[in-house]
Amino acid sequence: MSFCVAIDGPAAAGKGTISRAVAAQFGLAHLDTGLLYRAVGMKGGDPVMAARNLTPEDLARPDLRSMAAGEAASRVAVIPEVRAALVAFQREFAQRDGGAVLDGRDIGTVICPDAEIKLFVTASAEVRAERRFAEIGEGTFAEVLEQVRARDARDMGRADAPLRPAEDAVILDTSDLSIEDAVARACAVIATRRG
Ligand code: DC
Repeated sequence: MSFCVAIDGPAAAGKGTISRAVAAQFGLAHLDTGLLYRAVGMKGGDPVMAARNLTPEDLARPDLRSMAAGEAASRVAVIPEVRAALVAFQREFAQRDGGAVLDGRDIGTVICPDAEIKLFVTASAEVRAERRFAEIGEGTFAEVLEQVRARDARDMGRADAPLRPAEDAVILDTSDLSIEDAVARACAVIATRRG
């Protein structure tokens, strides 16, 4: 039986860590959908062809977690044909037997509008930039904050599948939470809904 947990939110809000923890806790498969867009952005050439022909090797590149890959991903993610090429893979993953957690920007709104549970994980731009800055140790805080804001504007402002909470999403603001507390709250929401 399929059981889908959709976790959306802006860059560096903590959704990756929360998604991995939730998947481990409830024994669900996990797909970080940002990696698909990162792989398309880093493949070079025509992004639509890259999205239509993604390979397991593209998804195993060691540089997919870099800031450059995140930027490239956000740019190709505005192209409707790129998004369309990635829909079927994500939906199939979501319907796996045993259930799945998908994290991204449009999981609760577009990919899995019927997901059993939807979480929207967010935090202030300043807190997210602080976390990113501590993690990458590149550039200055001001530069990282500017990148976070620019990425938010692009992800929220695009015409196709913009980043926004689904109407029935539970909002989890992690600005003042430790990662342990954020994970505990997410798990509590899922345990309650799962019954
Ligand atoms: O979650 P992330 O930082 O790895 O995502 C990188 C970019 O990919 C993000 O800025 C926008 C795009 N993305 C998207 O448009 N839709 C998704 N479901 C996941 C990511």
